[in-house]
Parts: sequence; C-alpha cells; structure tokens
Amino acid sequence: MKLSIGSDHAGYDLKKEIISFLQSKGHDVIDYGVKSPESVDYPDFALTVADSVATKKYELGILICGTGTGMAITANKVRGIRAANCLTSEMAELARSHNNANVLCMGARLIDSENAKAITEKFIATNFEAGRHELRVLKIHSLTGL
Ligand code: RB5
Repeated sequence: MKLSIGSDHAGYDLKKEIISFLQSKGHDVIDYGVKSPESVDYPDFALTVADSVATKKYELGILICGTGTGMAITANKVRGIRAANCLTSEMAELARSHNNANVLCMGARLIDSENAKAITEKFIATNFEAGRHELRVLKIHSLTGL
C-alpha cells in the first residue's frame, strides 16, 4: 500500500520505528518529516500528510505527535479527510470499518511502540464496511462538502 507519514518532534522516534515496520511489510512509505527531533509545529506536518491523502497521492496517512490530538484536529480541517486518533487496535479497526478513516493519528507519549505497530497494522488491514455506515460518513462530509 502507498502510505504517507509525518510527525512533530514528539513523534519523531516512533515515526522512525513505524516507517521501518511498514517497509519490512513491503509497504511504500513517504516520510514528510519532521526530519530531526528539533521542536516544530505539528499543524505543518498534519497538513502535508492530509493533503497527500485528500489529493489521492497516497491511500492512507499516518500522523504522530505527543498525544495524536493536535494532528487529528488539524488533519480533519482538510476536505475529504477523516482522521482518527487511536489508542488501541480495536479503535483502529473500528475507525476503518465504521468511519472509513483515511488518516491514523497516534500519540507517542501515550502508547508504546509495540502497541503503535499493532494499531498501524490493524488500520491498514481493515476495509470500510460501507452499508449502514456509508450514509453516516456522507452526513459528516455534507457539513463541508467532500
Ligand atoms: C508537543 O509538545 C505536543 O503539544 C504535540 O506533540 C501534540 O501532543 C499536540 O497535540
């Protein structure tokens, strides 16, 4: 799968681990930064990754900051983006199957790397169920237009 990933300084180390993990599974991953652990502003990276998914350059995006919250708030400002901040694999599975989430956000200060890998794997492996969930997702997008 073609994936884009980004983080701020708080997510820098975990991002590196997730990139290696994804590459070891054969995924094509573009790293939009940050490229060093120096302090940066998370919205800059959230917007780049969200845009890359909204424009269909990449199928899914991954964003990592300290809590995942700032990344999710920012990414969800981009039209066509459904970003979900996930703390467990179950949240990741349901974010895909029910909400058709297309950007996964994680908080490096809240979860360990093994959990983050499990969350990432589940997010990527799960498809949208559509059916009764389709209209609900369309209702979200009718707020701003898809
Ligand atoms: C950076 O200190 C922290 O605020 C950021 O990584 C993130 O958690 C914001 O939501």
